[in-house]
Amino acid sequence: MNTGQGSEIRDAAVTVMRRCGSLANISEEPGLIVRPYGSQAMNETNDIVAGWMGEAGMSTRRDAIGNLIGRYEGTGEKTFVIGSHLDTVRDAGNYDGILGVMVALACVQQLHNRGERLPFSVEVVAFADEEGLRFGTTFLGSSVYAGAFEEELLSLEDHEGVTLREAVRAFGGDPDALESDGRRGGDLRGYLEVHIEQGPMLEQEDLPVGVVSAISGQSRVGVGFTGEAGHAGTVPMGSRRDALCAAAEFVVDVEHAARREPGSVATVGEISSLPGASNVIPGEAKLSLDVRHPEDAARERLRDHLEARAREIAACRGCESEWRVRQQTGAVAMDAELCALLERAVEETGTPATRLSSGAGHDAMQVAVLAPVAMLFVRCERGISHNPAESVDTDDVGAAIEVVRNLLSLVSRRVEPEGAQEGE
Ligand code: GLV
Ligand code: MN
Ligand code: MN
Repeated sequence: MNTGQGSEIRDAAVTVMRRCGSLANISEEPGLIVRPYGSQAMNETNDIVAGWMGEAGMSTRRDAIGNLIGRYEGTGEKTFVIGSHLDTVRDAGNYDGILGVMVALACVQQLHNRGERLPFSVEVVAFADEEGLRFGTTFLGSSVYAGAFEEELLSLEDHEGVTLREAVRAFGGDPDALESDGRRGGDLRGYLEVHIEQGPMLEQEDLPVGVVSAISGQSRVGVGFTGEAGHAGTVPMGSRRDALCAAAEFVVDVEHAARREPGSVATVGEISSLPGASNVIPGEAKLSLDVRHPEDAARERLRDHLEARAREIAACRGCESEWRVRQQTGAVAMDAELCALLERAVEETGTPATRLSSGAGHDAMQVAVLAPVAMLFVRCERGISHNPAESVDTDDVGAAIEVVRNLLSLVSRRVEPEGAQEGE
């Protein structure tokens, strides 16, 4: 669809692809991409990306949680932010989050190569935790940036019992400054996030990129069942209080309930049982629950229904249930004016601007409290993500770079006094 990409854009896209590939080698586990918050792999990644930011003429700093922020000075007071995240899920692909940071860097690199200053500064933010792999919550990085961090999260523990407070300190951050280190919004002109689509729509429409209209809200809950451990060979089936069986019944219920509520999705992605031996009846089971819907009321209805079901299932099996809400994020609509500019930026590349909504969560949801936000999705093969098979096409990355470049010029024309850039 994208015709006649210039060689500058093509080269920039090739660099983006190469960089995404090289960051994929930085992982906590050999052979898989695993980059949780605060890990050695995240530290190394931040250092490498900070080096690339420096090459693109940016000053760099890390905030209190370890978000990496590069700044390319402009001639005016305003700042336009482009960001996404560098952490990953377990066994991730090359592009979720990383692509958005690399595309932003490519655009600033082009400005720097030409010695061009915009009438506003450009900040590229690489968030340190979006996926929530380590602490089971999400947006730790962007919530700090947005000034929305909640202090009670500091006592969350990872699987090794390390608290978030300890992890922030070990990552070189300051746990006591997380609530106060938010970016002030006064000078912000807007925030753009480029991200792989993680769904099939662009491929179906044969389009390289699309403009996001809104992002679904999400609830993340830790669910526990407690029964009684016992001997697998001696306790009769009718006398058991098997916590894993309660969890299993709940998992299937989650699937049925989400199928009944149109537009909703619900997932149990993690499950564990204790004591964990083949000849012992599980006395405890814990699982994660992720519920999403474009409308908050429908998500809350489904979440409340599932909480009641967990209680009922536990009661029927002589078990106890525990329901610990780890996170709730409401649905977020993109900014109308910035979206319209982004659509124009897409159309200027010769591609129709389609709109689509996002079931995946993004850092833009947090930044929306600070600044007008917009998102550009890039087609990914078969919509696959959170999977090592994630794949994007270099030409589509080129299209995204061209769109961001167009958007920056459109925003420049709005920021500068009327007519100041005529003839550009
Ligand atoms: C982030 O990838 C999410 O879970 O939506
Ligand atoms: Mn993700
Ligand atoms: Mn992501």
